[in-house]
Amino acid sequence: MSGVISRHGIELGLVVMLCVSTMTLAVEKPVTPQTTCVTEECHASYKTQAVVHGPVSLGECKSCHDSDNPAEHTYKMTREGRDLCEYCHLDPAAEQNVHEPVAKGDCLQCHDPHSSASKFLMRKDSVALQCAECHKVTEGKKHLHGPTAMGECSICHAAHSSENASLLTMKPTDLCVACHVVTQEEIAKFEFVHEPAKGDCIGCHDPHGAETTKMLKGDAPDLCYACHEAVQTIAENSKHQHGVVREAGGCLKCHTPHASTVRYLMKDNPETLCLNCHAEPQAISADEVLPSFTSEIKDKKFLHGPVQDKTCSGCHVAHGSDNHRLLQKAYPELFYAPYNPENYALCFSCHSESIVQDAKTIDLTGFRNGDMNLHYLHVNKAERGRTCRACHETHGSNLPSHLREAVPYGMWNMPLGFTKNEDGGSCSSGCHMPKEYNRIAPVDYTSSQAAPSGNAPI
Ligand code: HEC
Ligand code: HEC
Ligand code: HEC
Ligand code: HEC
Ligand code: HEC
Ligand code: HEC
Ligand code: HEC
Ligand code: HEC
Ligand code: HEC
Ligand code: HEC
Ligand code: HEC
Ligand code: HEC
Ligand code: HEC
Repeated sequence: MSGVISRHGIELGLVVMLCVSTMTLAVEKPVTPQTTCVTEECHASYKTQAVVHGPVSLGECKSCHDSDNPAEHTYKMTREGRDLCEYCHLDPAAEQNVHEPVAKGDCLQCHDPHSSASKFLMRKDSVALQCAECHKVTEGKKHLHGPTAMGECSICHAAHSSENASLLTMKPTDLCVACHVVTQEEIAKFEFVHEPAKGDCIGCHDPHGAETTKMLKGDAPDLCYACHEAVQTIAENSKHQHGVVREAGGCLKCHTPHASTVRYLMKDNPETLCLNCHAEPQAISADEVLPSFTSEIKDKKFLHGPVQDKTCSGCHVAHGSDNHRLLQKAYPELFYAPYNPENYALCFSCHSESIVQDAKTIDLTGFRNGDMNLHYLHVNKAERGRTCRACHETHGSNLPSHLREAVPYGMWNMPLGFTKNEDGGSCSSGCHMPKEYNRIAPVDYTSSQAAPSGNAPI
């Protein structure tokens, strides 16, 4: 028993010797007063319990009790408080963090000095019951952790003192994975590991038990918000919210809690993940349904660069945004908008704003008639500038330059009738009479082609 490597080793040796000699004496001589304390009539219970304290079983009552007044059979303690025990036992408060009752020298709060029904001379029938006298860590918890349910407090906690906080028997980073080897191996396999899963398991799990399954301290999203306030602010305060983020368990529809092969702890590559839901049309309100993304890009000849790369984050913020359709940056919602580059921040985060800046150019855009910049002409207007959506698709298209085949215009899905050729292209949309543009040999709009006419919505 390691605890008995006493700083009073010599005296302990003496106890043992005494034991041997008393046993011998017991045979040869009438018993001395010292060994008569425990008889069938007197103090018998001290020796009949399952666990009897070393000195008690040796009849060494004297190591703790000194005769005070033999006539009145009164005794005083040889030493007081912890000194009584530490005379034979190593200082249990040797480590840096000391359990409060131990620090106070209250050994007898937990231990019976004579004997006990349970190991370690507990006053209660088990270690767990002893702890429960002061700590109700399992009370009212629906799901208990295996070792806690079995009362194995000592696997994780030192009863007296420890070099670790919370009296843990190991460093917190080692404790959980000492048993959860499988989880540790799983985590080690992945490239991207959640910071707290590198050791702060109790950031999410209650080591004793919880209301929630898997002993989680709560359900996502609240569980996650505890450390990710910034995400909470976006999810709850954005003008346009993504319902799934705030749903019970929402975060875990897209993220794994421990580790992943995909950056940002994504459950899958971003496109597949989004398509888990957006392969199907999704109702956004009673009278608005988002089209199925899958059918939107299905069989399209040209996918927009980032869509080809299967990333959605270049344009969308999954958690919520002040821009419509959860867009990263501003992009006009409507067919018309007064020109202001800030309104097109989304497109101009990847494309150069210069395509629409100057009325005349010979190189900034391919959408020009000679040096007449047709992007400028259509978009750069103080009032009813045509927005990019009037002509371009955002996810994918069958036409080059991601041009649209048709654009919703009120109740009309207005065809654009665009064709592209080597030096320019042509358009026969509902906006105006068919028109061509040619970068090399500019078309003379004043003669060859009619000006916009009738009610055409230019
Ligand atoms: C390791 C120290 C120690 C040893 C050895 C020891 N006692 Fe005690 N004993 C105590 C302490 C401490 C108390 C104070 C009561 C308590 O808190 O349990 C006590 C109390 C008592 C009491 C008072 C009643 C009670 O249980 O509280 C009796 C009687 C007693 N001891 C008898 C004995 C006898 C007989 C022996 C030898 C067989 C013995 N003790 C050996 C420490 C010891
Ligand atoms: C909060 C309850 C509690 C208090 C207070 C307490 N102990 Fe313990 N002690 C235990 C438990 C539980 C064990 C069983 C070993 C384990 O689970 O780590 C134990 C084991 C022991 C052991 C045997 C095993 C070992 O670690 O050497 C000795 C000796 C011991 N305690 C002495 C003391 C002394 C001396 C004091 C007072 C300074 C004291 N204990 C205070 C709970 C307590
Ligand atoms: C006179 C020396 C002596 C004193 C004083 C003493 N002990 Fe012990 N203690 C022993 C011996 C000897 C053992 C048995 C060691 C063994 O079993 O290997 C022991 C064992 C124990 C154990 C382990 C029991 C088990 O189940 O393994 C505990 C707990 C313990 N003592 C607590 C105390 C406490 C609390 C005090 C103070 C009230 C105390 N001891 C005072 C000598 C002493
Ligand atoms: C006699 C009452 C008592 C018993 C029995 C008791 N403790 Fe404690 N324990 C305390 C007190 C008092 C504190 C300090 C205040 C607090 O944190 O609640 C404490 C604190 C703790 C702490 C927190 C330490 C820290 O540094 O944060 C742990 C862990 C602990 N006890 C575990 C146990 C275990 C395990 C047992 C059973 C072996 C046990 N306690 C038995 C009274 C007790
Ligand atoms: C699987 C390991 C493990 C087991 C088993 C375990 N604990 Fe803990 N316990 C911990 C960890 C880790 C902490 C630190 C929690 C924290 O800092 O939030 C802790 C904290 C504590 C605390 C202080 C904070 C609190 O929650 O009140 C007490 C008291 C405590 N445990 C008592 C017990 C008792 C009593 C048992 C046995 C019924 C037990 N523990 C079983 C790992 C464990
Ligand atoms: C002494 C071994 C041991 C230690 C240490 C331990 N666990 Fe466990 N844990 C278990 C056992 C056994 C189970 C039950 C396994 C089962 O039911 O499949 C369990 C279950 C769990 C579960 C629930 C698994 C499920 O599928 O429901 C979680 C979560 C968990 N432990 C987390 C932790 C954390 C966090 C720590 C560190 C504070 C920890 N464990 C320390 C043994 C341990
Ligand atoms: C960010 C919060 C978080 C952290 C940190 C965390 N977990 Fe988990 N853990 C979870 C969630 C959430 C689940 C439930 C997953 C599910 O149901 O799909 C879980 C499940 C588990 C399970 C059950 C089996 C499984 O994989 O589903 C075990 C065991 C487990 N965790 C152990 C650990 C250990 C050990 C650590 C520390 C190395 C740890 N966890 C850190 C949140 C966390
Ligand atoms: C105990 C605190 C804590 C909890 C609880 C927590 N996280 Fe984290 N999480 C962190 C820390 C620390 C980082 C790394 C620093 C950072 O990016 O903020 C992180 C990073 C992340 C990252 C980015 C990873 C990367 O590769 O950059 C994601 C995603 C994440 N957490 C999701 C979650 C989800 C989902 C939950 C709830 C299941 C959750 N977190 C709960 C502490 C926590
Ligand atoms: C678990 C299902 C689910 C996943 C996964 C999912 N979404 Fe959604 N999403 C929805 C639902 C339902 C709506 C409509 C209701 C709402 O906004 O809450 C929606 C709405 C949207 C909207 C329109 C929001 C608005 O206010 O107009 C966009 C854009 C969007 N999602 C993009 C994405 C992207 C990008 C991903 C991948 C990072 C993704 N979604 C992953 C379910 C999901
Ligand atoms: C619809 C899928 C989806 C849901 C639901 C979701 N996320 Fe994310 N999350 C993402 C994507 C995609 C990224 C990567 C962002 C990027 O590439 O810029 C991300 C990034 C993160 C990051 C790291 C970067 C950052 O923005 O701080 C954290 C932390 C995070 N998510 C936490 C959460 C939390 C907490 C929840 C639940 C409240 C949650 N996520 C719900 C898709 C989601
Ligand atoms: C180049 C920027 C860009 C990329 C990359 C992008 N989106 Fe979009 N997305 C938009 C714009 C702009 C809208 C708004 C379209 C509108 O209002 O007509 C939109 C709208 C949506 C909508 C609402 C329904 C709809 O089609 O109008 C969903 C769902 C959506 N995107 C999902 C995704 C997914 C999933 C990905 C990744 C595979 C993705 N987006 C990649 C720019 C982009
Ligand atoms: C009136 C229709 C129309 C509008 C509105 C329009 N575009 Fe274009 N855009 C075109 C045509 C047609 C081309 C193809 C030019 C060519 O190569 O023949 C084009 C080409 C492009 C190109 C390829 C590079 C270049 O300039 O040739 C980019 C990038 C582009 N547009 C971005 C935008 C953005 C961003 C907006 C909104 C700010 C926008 N477009 C508005 C018709 C339009
Ligand atoms: C995250 C970066 C990114 C954003 C944001 C973005 N694009 Fe693109 N875009 C690209 C890449 C990369 C290409 C080249 C690959 C291709 O042809 O799709 C491209 C190509 C284009 C083309 C075809 C260029 C050509 O040479 O024919 C047009 C038109 C276009 N984008 C319009 C837009 C519009 C309109 C927006 C705003 C709604 C936008 N883009 C936002 C990355 C982006």
